[in-house]
Amino acid sequence: MRRKSPLLMIIKDKNNSAPGPIGVFDSGVGGLSILKEIRTLLPYYDYLYLGDSARSPYGTRSFETVYQYTLEAVTALFQMGCPLVILACNTASAKALRTIQQQDLQRLAPNNRVLGVIRPTTETMSAYTQTRHIGILATPGTVKSDSYVIEISRFAPNIKVVQQACPMWVPLIENNEHLSEGGLYFVEKYIQSILKKDKDIDALLLACTHYPLLIPSISKFIPSHIKLISQGAIVAQKLRDYLSRHNEIDNRCKRSGQVRYLTTEDAADFSEKAHLFMEEPIVAESMQI
Ligand code: DGL
Repeated sequence: MRRKSPLLMIIKDKNNSAPGPIGVFDSGVGGLSILKEIRTLLPYYDYLYLGDSARSPYGTRSFETVYQYTLEAVTALFQMGCPLVILACNTASAKALRTIQQQDLQRLAPNNRVLGVIRPTTETMSAYTQTRHIGILATPGTVKSDSYVIEISRFAPNIKVVQQACPMWVPLIENNEHLSEGGLYFVEKYIQSILKKDKDIDALLLACTHYPLLIPSISKFIPSHIKLISQGAIVAQKLRDYLSRHNEIDNRCKRSGQVRYLTTEDAADFSEKAHLFMEEPIVAESMQI
């Protein structure tokens, strides 16, 4: 639901206030795979992670629903003082980012910024392929949006992009079943399917926050010349570049190395699932958006 004007006024007041944490938003725990890499490269900033686990997964939801949920999350993070929000979720980046940037930001907090994970990833794709044939593994929502196909065609028009929706992978990981026999069955199924679509693929992009956990399993089913590309390190690198070019945002990002984890679901459940993505234990807090 759209926020009412008193909240917008609060957010606008915060535009010029003291430095705040960088917001990192995901539909659930998966975005921790992105945050982990961002913190490795940029440990001195403060971060406020928000996972909308109560309404996860986003990958099978409609454009309108993902947009509404993402807008609510971005609004909440702005309200909590974040000058910059990273949509660490591919599905949210595909279905909500552009509308929020073009339609909502001016109204919500014109001096703040919202960035996604698709643009920074696609900018670097050329470096990974010799054959100029790339495979995208993603949620049904991201595949349906065609965001990767459109963005890659901008930066590297000579690259052929083939997509594969992997609807079972996120639920398998969320239920810690991805290493089971049944989990491996679905890994092999989607990998065989995409490799059949284009025999010249030499790079597969893991275009979903959860998929880096599947690297050992996926590696069993692909020839050794095919590279597996994870986004976390790419996004972190691009964020560092962005902050070095945008002093007006960088100066508003707090630097005391603190991280807070918020979830719209049960905090203990989130903290436990976070173990899948983070080596260190985390303590999450529950909130409503
Ligand atoms: N975080 C989502 C993404 O990267 C995957 C989980 C979901 O479907 O919500 O697309």
